[in-house]
Amino acid sequence: VDIVIRELTGQDLTERFLETLASLSEVNLSVTEAAEVFQRRLRAGIRTFVALHHDEIVGTASLLIEQKFIHHGGKSGHIEDVAVHHDHQRQGIGSLLVAHATEEARKAGCYKVMLNCFDDRIPFYAKLGYRAHDRGMRLDFSGTAGS
Ligand SMILES: CC(C)(COP(=O)(O)OP(=O)(O)OC[C@H]1O[C@@H](n2cnc3c(N)ncnc32)[C@H](O)[C@@H]1OP(=O)(O)O)[C@@H](O)C(=O)NCCC(=O)NCCS
Repeated sequence: VDIVIRELTGQDLTERFLETLASLSEVNLSVTEAAEVFQRRLRAGIRTFVALHHDEIVGTASLLIEQKFIHHGGKSGHIEDVAVHHDHQRQGIGSLLVAHATEEARKAGCYKVMLNCFDDRIPFYAKLGYRAHDRGMRLDFSGTAGS
């Protein structure tokens, strides 16, 4: 398939983008609210990539770069929120997005990239060179946005 991957822009913030993210988890944001969230993400240095097929958004992935003290002040990349629109899964788009975000982390000087996934998605990331490493731990705060 003919896929272009580039950075998300304000103009991409449409129902279509939110629908793409919804294949990962409920979004519950209006397009206007998403635009405000996007500004906060930009200020926080979070990069959002989109995959386009004939100018239509078909997938997204995000990259955060963490500046550490350890590893001689090294940087670690964190890939988050990988989602392919439900009508376009299993066409290689998710792989292109993760490979792109991984390469951006390498170019930014990271010594590693980390991500979390459920066990059934291990084969997807393994094909891209990732290996299962440690166990993700989580604590939920009830009654807050996002819970
Ligand atoms: C998981 C997801 C990102 C994969 O993207 P995709 O574009 O569908 O995957 P690709 O076509 O690039 O898959 C490449 C290979 O990875 C493996 N793979 C893909 N999805 C898989 C899944 N759900 N379970 C197991 N293996 C999977 C397959 O081996 C696949 O090759 P094949 O189709 O030739 O068998 C996508 O299905 C998605 O958005 N799912 C819902 C949200 C989600 O789970 N996001 C990831 C959170 S960690």
